[in-house]
Amino acid sequence: MSGQTPKSSTIDTVLEEQRVFNPPERIKETAHIRSYEEYKELYDYSIKEPEAFWAKQAELVDWIKPFKKVYEGDLVEGEHKWYLGGKLNVSANCIDRHINTWRKNKAAIIWQGEKRDETRVLTYNELYNQVCRVANTLKKWGVNKGDRVALYMPMIPELAITMLACSRIGAIHNVVFGGFSADSLRDRINDSGARILITADAGFRRGAYIPLKDNADKALEGCPGVHTCIVVKHTGADINFWTQRDKWWHHEINSPDISSVCPPEAMDSEDPLFILYTSGSTGKPKGVMHTTGGYLVYTSLTMKYIFDLKEEDTFWCTADSGWITGHSYVIYGPLALGATTLMYEGLHNYPNPDRLWQVIEKYRVSIFYTAPTIIRGLMKEDEEWVKKHDLSSLRLLGTVGEPINPEAWVWYHKVVGNEKCAIVDTYWQTETGGVIITPLPGAIPTKPGSAAMPFFGIEPAIVDSNGEECDSKDGGSLIIKRPWPGLMRGVYNAPDRFRETYLTMYPGNYFTGDGARVDEDGYYWLLGRVDDVLNVSGHRLSTAEIESALVSHNKVAEAAVVGYPHDIKGEGIYAYVLLKNNAKASSELRAQLGQHVRKVIGPVASPDKIHIVEQLPKTRSGKIMRRILRKIASGEFEQLGDTSTLSNPESVDELIKTREE
Ligand code: WTA
Repeated sequence: MSGQTPKSSTIDTVLEEQRVFNPPERIKETAHIRSYEEYKELYDYSIKEPEAFWAKQAELVDWIKPFKKVYEGDLVEGEHKWYLGGKLNVSANCIDRHINTWRKNKAAIIWQGEKRDETRVLTYNELYNQVCRVANTLKKWGVNKGDRVALYMPMIPELAITMLACSRIGAIHNVVFGGFSADSLRDRINDSGARILITADAGFRRGAYIPLKDNADKALEGCPGVHTCIVVKHTGADINFWTQRDKWWHHEINSPDISSVCPPEAMDSEDPLFILYTSGSTGKPKGVMHTTGGYLVYTSLTMKYIFDLKEEDTFWCTADSGWITGHSYVIYGPLALGATTLMYEGLHNYPNPDRLWQVIEKYRVSIFYTAPTIIRGLMKEDEEWVKKHDLSSLRLLGTVGEPINPEAWVWYHKVVGNEKCAIVDTYWQTETGGVIITPLPGAIPTKPGSAAMPFFGIEPAIVDSNGEECDSKDGGSLIIKRPWPGLMRGVYNAPDRFRETYLTMYPGNYFTGDGARVDEDGYYWLLGRVDDVLNVSGHRLSTAEIESALVSHNKVAEAAVVGYPHDIKGEGIYAYVLLKNNAKASSELRAQLGQHVRKVIGPVASPDKIHIVEQLPKTRSGKIMRRILRKIASGEFEQLGDTSTLSNPESVDELIKTREE
């Protein structure tokens, strides 16, 4: 832990922000929650009568067998269970209950590929058919209830279909983001103990291939437990194919022995639904585990109220399903509520900076959810790129992933939303399952840069470094004081790690790892991570993980990685690298080191700047002074603080002189 000082410099502007925007009238008139009083009343009830509140919300979900008890456990030991004794199936909730209604021919998933003419629409009925076939295929290849299935796929309907197929038979999916390397994929497969991998020949990125199957081949060299790899033919890229192990998706699911009926498994409310690996402040990613009943109730509830989802909406969340946002709000949330969800494979600015606006116009998207980094990237472009499209279908705009700077918020509001849309800045984490701090679109006035107020059932507090609740206006660490159904249940394969990582810092409370302050109106302003986690373009990365990747290069003796403010990415990656004695600094070596990180972790973790140094500032006990490294990387030389405790104070001037611009 690096203390309580948030690192992001967007904070300065955020702290000065004074503007308040009332919910647009047209939203207020029709929203599920229409006034602040209504929100407050329900919020207070959710805190005072949590059992009654959560019992009622569980009605959003179809239960095969009703639960006997709403909740058991606490955040001291870290065991918390929801909807005990209840049985349900997530895929049945996302599909079967809709196909018995008029929704059977409603578009469940609209898919837009990177190429303009590549589109597909799956109705709920078609989704049912495909999910059952894939579920039966998984069974045929030996997948049973409780087994883990690894997925390494582009943003194509087959990804959603496979996730739903796993949930149908009670298998636990482990989706690995396609931007991770073969090595990262290998480690995640092995940690989860998956014996089957679903991938595609390749994905598209800027017209080129992302070699998913090639990466998978390399990964599987180190995964002796994997016996089967099912490959979706998506791009037609040339790939190696080992018939012993590899199977084509289209052959498998259309094989005559595969039925298009697969009864959903009755899962216990607390049976695991999925594992998703995420970075913490240590080097090893954690397999965050979510279970069935609580996760589904929480994603459905947040989906309904925060995005104000209605039957006729077309909902588009741009997140990749390799991240939690894509789990909760591309797939499970929208489908559980019977909505139409849009899946998009391409980039936000390819082939042109109006790609997103063109897709919104094409499908008349009504709710659009994206990340501040994307908004910042697009607001640099000529406004004409937005203006030339008819975006009048939009009703609600959301953001997630990092604090949004007020300038970007206001641009989103004015230029994209035409001042007519509600904006929800939603704060949450992989661990929290769904959004936990947010405005409600028809009820809570918004302040650009603030994620506003806690969602139902969430009881946040701000604490100082002694764990005392402090004057929240000054800021401190954000904790949540009680569990809720969407909170992770544990770290896969590491029974003590949930408690140790999240619950021991402020005993009995969940520690988010974020800094925040609360203003006089009770609005939360997120101030960035207070631990060694970076947020690069909304992607969560651990400095320790990047450091250990660098140190695994044979010319590197030591490395220290910090974040620095980056106009578009939010945070950029600045790596200080100390070479081994015989190694010489050169631009080729720097490029090699960048390549090496891409190979070990993936392109997402590639450093923006690599600074080859003679020495790193260290305390007398040998600890690297990251605080100073952060300041130097950010160009804040005047505020270096006390350097007298360093064993090598001269290193600081040297670093300033040789800093990478
Ligand atoms: C950051 C993404 C400020 C935060 C859903 C958190 C945010 C981390 C916001 C989780 C927001 C996410 N305002 N910061 N609206 N949303 N964050 O697990 O630092 O990929 O801890 O989940 O993103 O990232 P994760």
